[in-house]
Amino acid sequence: MKALLLTGPGQIELKDIPIPEVTTGKALVKMKAAALNRRDDWIREGKYPRIQYGVTLGSDGAGVVEKVFDDIHKAWVGQEVVINPNIDWGSDPEVQSKNYTILGMPVNGTFTEYLLVNIDRLQHKPFHLDFLQAATLPLGGLTAYRALFRRGGLRAGMNVLISGFGGGVAQFAFLFAQAAGANVYITSGSDEKIEKALKMGAKGAFNYKRQNNYEDLWKTRGGFDLIIDSAGGDQLNNYIKILRPNGRIVFYGATNGLPSKVDLYRMFWNQLTLQGSTMGNDSEFNEMLSFVSQHKIIPVVDSIRPFSKIASSFADITKPNKVGKIVFQV
Ligand SMILES: NC(=O)c1ccc[n+]([C@@H]2O[C@H](COP(=O)([O-])OP(=O)(O)OC[C@H]3O[C@@H](n4cnc5c(N)ncnc54)[C@H](OP(=O)(O)O)[C@@H]3O)[C@@H](O)[C@H]2O)c1
Repeated sequence: MKALLLTGPGQIELKDIPIPEVTTGKALVKMKAAALNRRDDWIREGKYPRIQYGVTLGSDGAGVVEKVFDDIHKAWVGQEVVINPNIDWGSDPEVQSKNYTILGMPVNGTFTEYLLVNIDRLQHKPFHLDFLQAATLPLGGLTAYRALFRRGGLRAGMNVLISGFGGGVAQFAFLFAQAAGANVYITSGSDEKIEKALKMGAKGAFNYKRQNNYEDLWKTRGGFDLIIDSAGGDQLNNYIKILRPNGRIVFYGATNGLPSKVDLYRMFWNQLTLQGSTMGNDSEFNEMLSFVSQHKIIPVVDSIRPFSKIASSFADITKPNKVGKIVFQV
């Protein structure tokens, strides 16, 4: 079978490797689709802890269960599934254990024709989605769900700003916040993406590359209760200015690095919260899938490509015109 391996520093290769043997407690899934995350490229670049060479990359995928080892699990055979990428979250719903990892490094991941995975990582694919759409959900959907609901305390009627609309996680945050009845605004560095967001029902938008006065733009709208961000950097202080009192910024990444300063004066006076968030626990993964089914959410797919093009597609993860997820037909 073919699988995309990290073979050395900065090197990824689609290789022929043996189909894994099914062992107790495991299922063999014939993958139908897999999706890229920024994380896969961070790993290729070596910017991730516990990197090992020879590991199959990929956290997102959907497929059909081909085999199980134990008779007790045979009802899974033939089922259409998505894979929960959490490994060893642990018993505290608030925070992951120190053994926590994510499928795709150091454990073999979804960029493969056959995935060997623990039975308890299988979840039924939402009925209204095809395999390509469902494959986009696991990592981005889970991150967005926790950031909005557990960490952000999102409720209907709130003013919410999702930064970097073109991002994989941001797309889910946008769709989920809308479905939950929030007034959703976005930022993006691209007018084309802004146009798309407005067509999809965004209440307003801000181009962080062309505009610089966040305050003027947003104060007429009464400020934000919640801002969801993964860019970080000095922009953080603009977010602090446009929050309503008791508002909250939830960040799940810091792609642009650290802020050189943080406006603590405004933060304490306005009783603001700066809250980190990472992935989500197993219950949140199931809740996220139910939410997607209940609201018939359709993930935004940037492009669908053959699996043979997966290595060369890594260069497109950061392409400026990308909106949503790059997906592979396996
Ligand atoms: N903690 C976690 O569990 C977790 C989970 C998933 C991802 N992450 C991290 O979160 C980040 C995003 O991941 P992703 O998979 O969504 O990546 P992605 O699909 O590559 O999205 C990146 C987006 O960031 C936006 N961006 C760039 N500069 C910005 C700025 N100055 N202000 C606002 N937005 C800006 C861009 O949006 P526009 O194109 O619209 O301008 C871009 O599309 C990565 O650093 C990733 O490692 C963390």
